[in-house]
Amino acid sequence: MLMFHNALFAQNSVDQRVEEIMSKMTLDQKIGQMIQITSTSGDEVPDWVRDAIKEGRVGSILNAGTPTAIEQLQHLAIKEGPNKIPLIIGRDVIHGYKTIFPIPLGQAASWNKELVEKGANIAGIEAYEEGINWTFAPMIDVSRDPRWGRIAESLGEDPYLTSVLGAAMVKGFQGDQLSDEEGRIAACAKHFVGYGATENGKDYNAVSIPDYHLWNVYLPPFKAAVDAGVGTFMTAFNDINGVPASANTFLLKDVLRDDWGFEGFVVSDWESMSQMMNQGYSEDLKDVARQSANARLDMEMVSASYQKHLKELIEEGEVDVEIVNTAVRNILRSKVQLGLFDKKYKGVPKKSTILSDTHKADAKAMAIESVVMLKNNELLPLKEAQKIAVIGPLANAPAEQIGTWSLDAVIEDVITPLTSLKEMYGDKILYAEGLKNSRDMDTSSIKEAVDVAKQSDVVLMFVGEDAILSGEGHSRAFITLPGAQETLIEEVAATGKKVVMVVMAGRPLTFDHIENKVDAILYAWHPGTMGGPALADLISGKVSPTGKLPVTFPRTVGQVPLYYAYLESGRPANPDMLGIPTGTPLDPVGLSNNYLDVSITPAYAFGFGLTYSDFIISKPKLSSAEITATETITLEVSVKNSGSVDAAEVVQLYIKDHVASTMRPKKELKGFEKVTLNAGEEKVVTFTIGADQLSFLDRNGKTLLESGKFTAYVGNSSDNLHEVSFTLKNLK
Ligand code: NOJ
Repeated sequence: MLMFHNALFAQNSVDQRVEEIMSKMTLDQKIGQMIQITSTSGDEVPDWVRDAIKEGRVGSILNAGTPTAIEQLQHLAIKEGPNKIPLIIGRDVIHGYKTIFPIPLGQAASWNKELVEKGANIAGIEAYEEGINWTFAPMIDVSRDPRWGRIAESLGEDPYLTSVLGAAMVKGFQGDQLSDEEGRIAACAKHFVGYGATENGKDYNAVSIPDYHLWNVYLPPFKAAVDAGVGTFMTAFNDINGVPASANTFLLKDVLRDDWGFEGFVVSDWESMSQMMNQGYSEDLKDVARQSANARLDMEMVSASYQKHLKELIEEGEVDVEIVNTAVRNILRSKVQLGLFDKKYKGVPKKSTILSDTHKADAKAMAIESVVMLKNNELLPLKEAQKIAVIGPLANAPAEQIGTWSLDAVIEDVITPLTSLKEMYGDKILYAEGLKNSRDMDTSSIKEAVDVAKQSDVVLMFVGEDAILSGEGHSRAFITLPGAQETLIEEVAATGKKVVMVVMAGRPLTFDHIENKVDAILYAWHPGTMGGPALADLISGKVSPTGKLPVTFPRTVGQVPLYYAYLESGRPANPDMLGIPTGTPLDPVGLSNNYLDVSITPAYAFGFGLTYSDFIISKPKLSSAEITATETITLEVSVKNSGSVDAAEVVQLYIKDHVASTMRPKKELKGFEKVTLNAGEEKVVTFTIGADQLSFLDRNGKTLLESGKFTAYVGNSSDNLHEVSFTLKNLK
């Protein structure tokens, strides 16, 4: 009760403070709060920015320059700005600030929400120390198309995994809610919504999402972010079924505010408002301002429609002034909650934690857990006393292994696999890059790599994608290993030496016909600052891989989109159709949901990943085979490390609703637990099943719980599961 009073009191005092400020503001100054500009990259603050701050024409700056510049900006705002309102300083601190963690897709492969939270916390602390109070993360767009470059920034294909890990990131940046605690910054749930469903994987493309999928696949992570207390939202560049996200009243008002009760503020994406003219939705910039304001978009990033037209629209009665008042309240409330009014802007801290040993240790821990072992013919971990050939364009490429969105990375601090392996194995390491970079087509250095392989007992082959091949605006139509990397692998493998392929990439790549040329595969994504030491520990067996795929790996791009939670066809696949002989008569049995030229199965399933140990997951035991709408039942399995190495297993729970008023996916992830066990150790894992796991949303977003048969699946990959069925009964 006392806590409730305190919370209420705090809320009241925040609101009171906001109202005091509001009462002194002119309409122009209010509109100023709704404007975010981008400034400079150096120490200097340009005159036009100074003027904008002094005249109260700006509420936020993104990419505001060095800490020295930020200090000047804040001093201007709180000393010379009309109402002494501090700026909220935003930046893309996505997977680390200066200590770079693995790309978000790699972090998702850890299935470790504590580590994910920690990673965001560290990123936030480092950014905070340099004057940043707002990050544009997490990106919680469910992503099912590996051609899309931004899959790298996503948490994968699954709404539940994305929800859990996205909420963990929000907490990592903010704590339980926006607060004035040292080291806490505001998070931003982006991109609301459907950006990951971009047509044909090209960035910024149109998006069509049936209502049913919108509610059950794309919106849940955003709802989870609201529940986790996220302070801000960003609208997506795309339209959703013809209405741009930045002018989407249904999403921004009906869903986000009225239905979910979000109280933070919403920013557009970079010029996503003015781009509505290109999209054929707005006639001119004035139209843009009218449409976005009326949809309840609070802050405009970079484009200038609010700055130029919002006042005039209010005067003309096209936008209600209360919309502006509400937007400004939302923004000011966040600034008060973040403690910006009370901060002293002391400048660059004397003692900073940036790139500290502890931050690096956590980045290494995350890099270790993000690596997924896809194959191991008893080659890993490496045995002692061998000559090791380190080959490939990604073995010693610090600027590439940090991946996309590493704006503030300190390249000199990045440790590559070559450096770490040399440290670990000394002169047993022989090195040849083979190709200059991942896209290199010049095969003239491959011979040297082959020679190095011949002199060695085993080959570690570091291949993948340069950082620039994924991320925003960097989509690919083909998702094979670029350049001459396949040739490099083939020629090195032809020496007969055993090859470990380590892939560093921003997306799932396809390498179906290379797979059988190598004996082990570690998928390391872009692992960040500490990728080298993490991989050396894994390769040497100091630690076991524990990562699991957060996204399905197709065999070929032709299978895309390929994801595990698909809706079953009325004519389920008949695998026998693969390669039917010419002249085979048409037979209805063969007319099924498959391809003639590639298997229907993925190369690697969602949730898959090997360890150096063996785990036995028992058959699941249900506390009851029947459940009612108000009850919960428990599902119990025991998991045993039956191998000889300490390791971790991710126990995954999936559920299928057999018959429903709208078809339900083949199975859906509903729970997971990462269990660390010493060799020989055993543990019981218990999941609770109730309405939360069994319900779904109809096309209007209404929760439905329907009686009938359900199956629960438990195992260590979406394609390796025990099953047990139960009935939901007694529903009216
Ligand atoms: C555009 C991107 O889509 C968004 O994610 C990012 O936060 C903004 N630019 C700001 O840089």
